[in-house]
Amino acid sequence: MAHYLVTGGAGFIGSHLTEELARRGHRVRVADNLSTGKRSNLDHVPGVEFLEGDLADLDFAHRAVAGCEYVLHQAAIPSVPRSVKDPVTSNRANVDATVNTLVAARDAGVKRLVFAASSSAYGNTPTLPKHEEMPTSPLSPYALQKVVGEQYLQMFTRLYGLETVSIRYFNVFGPRQDPSSPYSGVISVFASALIENRSPKIYGDGEQTRDFTYVANVVDGVLRACEAPGASGEIINVATGGRISLNELFRAMRGLVGATAEPAYDEPRAGDVRDSQADIAKARRVLGYEPIVPFEEGLRRTVEWYRTAGAAIANP
Ligand code: UD1
Repeated sequence: MAHYLVTGGAGFIGSHLTEELARRGHRVRVADNLSTGKRSNLDHVPGVEFLEGDLADLDFAHRAVAGCEYVLHQAAIPSVPRSVKDPVTSNRANVDATVNTLVAARDAGVKRLVFAASSSAYGNTPTLPKHEEMPTSPLSPYALQKVVGEQYLQMFTRLYGLETVSIRYFNVFGPRQDPSSPYSGVISVFASALIENRSPKIYGDGEQTRDFTYVANVVDGVLRACEAPGASGEIINVATGGRISLNELFRAMRGLVGATAEPAYDEPRAGDVRDSQADIAKARRVLGYEPIVPFEEGLRRTVEWYRTAGAAIANP
């Protein structure tokens, strides 16, 4: 049994990590400021220690990390458009809090810190699939903040010997992703709209593509990154390795829901990337990672969740 800190553990991905760690019998502490996360995301997970506070406060970061062997740093404001609208708030959550968490992890002598990095780092680089040797090309403050986070991790590894790994997530989706804000992930937005037979918006022509990744794959990749011998100091894509356009996604989800709504096309979003698809060879090599839930199966499970549990949360 090991002691883990999950920052942002009340959020979508963090709560899935917390759930799996608890299931494996580990001791888990969650630190979250509940800015986008919800305590209720952890209601079904027994024995979690919950600390409410903001990691942009260094004292809180020290308290959060104290006594932990592994830190899974998931806390963030995870939105491209929100960062375009308000780069200062987004920088505080995505950069200041990351530096504080690194300092606290260094001071506490943690074994390894694993960071939620982002596919947005690649921007519109023309090569597909995108591999880790490619130069970064951030198109939004969010993307830049995640790249800065990765570089801080590598610097802490070089300067202080703190073991760190950055995992670049590719459009993660699944149960508990909150559909209620204008900044929500597109699959959660489509699911909740289609279930109520409302028309979701598609920004641009809908021919942009994404490597949508079911959350269980990310949980598996991150937990492997805590232990994998050659992973420290590395940046690693974790994804499914395919890609689908927004138009195709819409049709697939409409079929699963059995809805008849048509999409409403709107202006393209500022800072949006055109195509995104991961090369997952490095994850296979360094982490022994293999996607465990294919995209179609993940989409089916997700739609089912929004139909049952998700609907109950939206209309209690
Ligand atoms: C980006 C990052 C992702 C990161 C996430 C954080 C890329 C390739 N991906 O996701 O790694 O974790 O930010 O939020 O940069 N859309 C609609 N209608 C909607 C909502 C979205 O058409 O109602 C479109 C968007 O314009 C975009 C696509 O769907 O083209 C996906 O959007 P979203 O789910 O917000 O994620 P990204 O911005 O791609």
